[in-house]
Amino acid sequence: MKALILSGGSGTRLRPITHTGAKQLVPVANKPILWYGIEAIVAAGVTEIGIIINPETGDEIRRKTGDGSRFGAQISYIVQDQPAGLAHAVKVAQPFLGDAPFVMYLGDNLVQSDLNGFINQFKTQQLDALTLLKAVENPSAFGVATVDSQGRVLQLVEKPKDPPSNLALVGVYLFSSAIHGAIDQIEPSPRGELEITDAIQKLIDLKNPVAAFRLEGWWLDTGKKDDLLEANQIVLDAFPNSTMLGTIQGDTRINGRVHVGKGSKIINSTIRGPVSIGENCHIENCFIGPYSSIANHVYLLEADLEHSVVLEKARIEGIHQRIVDSLIGERVTLKAAARRPKALRFMVGDDSTIELTGL
Ligand code: DAU
Repeated sequence: MKALILSGGSGTRLRPITHTGAKQLVPVANKPILWYGIEAIVAAGVTEIGIIINPETGDEIRRKTGDGSRFGAQISYIVQDQPAGLAHAVKVAQPFLGDAPFVMYLGDNLVQSDLNGFINQFKTQQLDALTLLKAVENPSAFGVATVDSQGRVLQLVEKPKDPPSNLALVGVYLFSSAIHGAIDQIEPSPRGELEITDAIQKLIDLKNPVAAFRLEGWWLDTGKKDDLLEANQIVLDAFPNSTMLGTIQGDTRINGRVHVGKGSKIINSTIRGPVSIGENCHIENCFIGPYSSIANHVYLLEADLEHSVVLEKARIEGIHQRIVDSLIGERVTLKAAARRPKALRFMVGDDSTIELTGL
């Protein structure tokens, strides 16, 4: 079995955060979302992985993720020239996939699951497609499935206005080589994409065996700020223990599970876990509250934040009001020139500067 991870597409939904970068590389607990998928695939014993990239963000994905050796896998990168749909990505990857069955994983999805049960069902039932489903409150935002009492998939529709059920297609699928023939028989959808949902529907229409597996664990489609903060909270909650690779100075208190990366300095600050702090950060006279992730090379001076994600090279100085539920982009500068009351809530894109001044 091989794996195909889709990390092309365009990152419009998380703009401006991913205006310049790949949404699959946005970190959750300081690890790119994409890497969680790679780790889950390798943990299921699949080590031949193809990653679909696009010409704009592909180099960054390739540079950060590498040839797969750090995961115990061999990674091949496959360029898809334009975001012409998930089924189009499979078509582009056909030379890599050959006739092998494969797990297809959407690189912006974060799924809590051991893929072994899913792979076992696919093999034992000799299926041509196995989809992963989860009941959601807003099915119209996803592919939606209708399933019979034996778990057979009867119908699939992509982002229907009037959803026939609340069962959303999670971004993990298993396919036999029969999917390639089905893709050859579908046309682009009204949004101009070759939809994988339509290709699976084609298999159903042709009476090929297609089944569904209900996901019990959590699943986050991390396209939006609140999803990303929730994913960060869930992953930090599962943090096993504390690791201190940096240095602590002055009157610093660290409570709960806190990871501090190498080269980071924490001076006269209180950190209340679960918190993840990357490498080479400077944190001085700060309070960092639960469910915060601070990426590498972040500079925090007299800052007070919790339940927030701060991306690489951001600087926050002199903000005494608590920053909550915030996503601070790469290289952002937040600097207060005067004290002001109450909490602050931000979504600030890469390269921005915000100065809070007195009245
Ligand atoms: O997240 C689950 C949903 O993912 C499913 O419920 C839907 O049925 C499925 O169509 C898909 O919908 P999205 O609209 O969320 O897909 P998105 O455009 O965000 O693309 C998902 C991933 O695939 C993302 O990492 C980008 C990548 N991609 C996307 C397209 C359109 C490609 O690599 N190539 C593409 O052409």
